Amino acid sequence: MDELESIIEAQREKDNFWWTIEFSTPLSDNSEELLSTVAALSDSIGSYIFTEKDSEGNERLFLRADYDGTKPLDDLMFMVNFILKDKDFKDIDLTRAYKTSNQPWEKQHYDAFPPLNVGKSLVVMAPWHEKEEIAPNRTPIYIYPSTAFGTGYHESTQIAMTLLEEVVKEGDTILDVGTGTGILFITALKLGADKAIARDIDPTTLDEAKRNMNLNGINPKVCELSEGDLLKGFKGQVNILTANILLNPNVSMLPDVRPVLKPKGFAIFSGMTSVESSMFLSVLNSSGLEIDKELKIGDWWGCRATKSWS
Ligand SMILES: C[S@@+](CC[C@H](N)C(=O)[O-])C[C@H]1O[C@@H](n2cnc3c(N)ncnc32)[C@H](O)[C@@H]1O
Repeated sequence: MDELESIIEAQREKDNFWWTIEFSTPLSDNSEELLSTVAALSDSIGSYIFTEKDSEGNERLFLRADYDGTKPLDDLMFMVNFILKDKDFKDIDLTRAYKTSNQPWEKQHYDAFPPLNVGKSLVVMAPWHEKEEIAPNRTPIYIYPSTAFGTGYHESTQIAMTLLEEVVKEGDTILDVGTGTGILFITALKLGADKAIARDIDPTTLDEAKRNMNLNGINPKVCELSEGDLLKGFKGQVNILTANILLNPNVSMLPDVRPVLKPKGFAIFSGMTSVESSMFLSVLNSSGLEIDKELKIGDWWGCRATKSWS
């Protein structure tokens, strides 16, 4: 083999494999967020999340993360092990690491994210499904599955989307707190809302939300995206507020929600388990809000609330 051929061969080899590392952790309220954070911190180029039962029948959440095959595996493992030393990730196990050959990354993702019907009128699709037939009664929401939370595959997102599709109307302004991929505000805009304000405490999610806006043909002029902690510093009033976070941030935000809702506005909360619902509802009632609808999918629970006037 001459020098040029060996360079080409080396390049082909580089292009044709990825490192794949699989992490797992017991299923909990924040397990998906923790695994996604590990993938983001370790520069994964794409990841896929799934659940499986362990030998004792307990559900575990797995994240299979792909990495650039051009980097030495030793360096990658060193970095990953360093990240896992953080106390926040103490329950995360590195299950296995391997080379994924001759299996294009797009193909793996293609298989991993088939179109998913959500609620009565939505279908979440990865962009490579764009050409697939869409039922006439469903609006496609294109989401590029990457490291931000919000592929549509998590029940908490499906709860929020379903509660949202039932009330969003033309002309609405939505405030999406903890936007992740942007899936909730993109849904609202595609169902007729006029304007979206979206914030996330993690600034890295905002680029992903922008990419998804683009995929869905959303005019950037109707969206304000910023880094932000819950409702801190937010001034203004909206027709719909969405927050698919977790029990504690949702509860701590509740006292600030009523003032940001317009008179007939709705607040949609998700990211909590059925067990946590009574705790959340007791604080909701003392925050000048009243329940409009509750929704449960699997172990997950969410609700829609309005201003109470009594
Ligand atoms: C469960 S994900 C929800 C993503 C998306 N909205 C969905 O429904 O799928 C929660 C998001 O909230 C963000 N988040 C967590 N704590 C937050 C806070 N205090 N303020 C704003 N965003 C926060 C996380 O970074 C994450 O992107």
